[in-house]
Amino acid sequence: MNDESDGLTGEGYTHADWQKHYDDDDMPWDLGEVAPPFVRLWEDGRVPKGRMIVPGCGQGHEVKFFAGNGMQVTAVDIAPGAVERLRHHLKNAGVSARVLHDDFFSLNSEHDAFYDVFLEQTFFCAIHPILRATYVNVAHRILKPGGLLIGLFYETGERGGPPFNTTADDILHHFSGRFSIRNLEKCDHSIDKRQGKEWLAILQRQ
Ligand SMILES: C[S@@+](CC[C@H](N)C(=O)[O-])C[C@H]1O[C@@H](n2cnc3c(N)ncnc32)[C@H](O)[C@@H]1O
Repeated sequence: MNDESDGLTGEGYTHADWQKHYDDDDMPWDLGEVAPPFVRLWEDGRVPKGRMIVPGCGQGHEVKFFAGNGMQVTAVDIAPGAVERLRHHLKNAGVSARVLHDDFFSLNSEHDAFYDVFLEQTFFCAIHPILRATYVNVAHRILKPGGLLIGLFYETGERGGPPFNTTADDILHHFSGRFSIRNLEKCDHSIDKRQGKEWLAILQRQ
C-alpha cells in the first residue's frame, strides 16, 4: 500500500483512525442497509450492468446489494476491520465479490479502464479535501471511457470533518472537464437523517 502521506488519509483521519472505528464498533456513517437512492436507480434500470468498484466500502451494504443482483463488484477499503466485516457479511449472504484491503489512491494499473460503474457512498466526504483532485484522477483512470460514477455526495453544511462538507459547486469544480454531468440533484428520498443533505450525481467518464 502507498504510504506517501505517512499513514494519513489527508490531514483528517489516519488509516489507524479508521481502523479504530471498526475496533470500537463505532460506525456512525453506516446506514445498516443499502442507501435507498441506489436501490431506486437499480430498479429504474439506470445502473449499467458489468463491473463495479466501491471505494471506501466499509461494511459494504452496497457491495452486497449489487453483487447479489449480478454485478461483478470490487470493494476496496484501507481498514482491515472493514474488509473482515464485509467478507463475513458476504459469506453469510452467500454472495460473491472481490474485497481488497488496499489504499484507493494507490490502486495498481490492473484496475485501469476496468470498471463500468464507480459507486460513491460516503467516501468523497471521508477523505481530506486536499485529496479530492487525486480522487478524480483515480476515478477517471479506473473507469472505462463512457463509464459512470454514480454517487451520493454529502453536504453536511458543517466545517471540518470527516465527514467534510461537499457542495454542488465542489462536485462541478472537481469533475467537470473529465466527466460529463448527466445528473446532479438534491436527493429527495434519502434516509431521514440525511434528508436534504445528499447530492445524487451521475457523472460520465469522458
Ligand atoms: C465514512 S466511511 C464510509 C463507509 C461506507 N462507504 C458506508 O457508507 O458505509 C469511509 C470508509 O473509507 C475508508 N477509507 C478511508 N481512506 C481510505 C483510502 N485511502 N482507501 C480506501 N479506503 C479508505 C475507511 O476505512 C472507511 O471504511
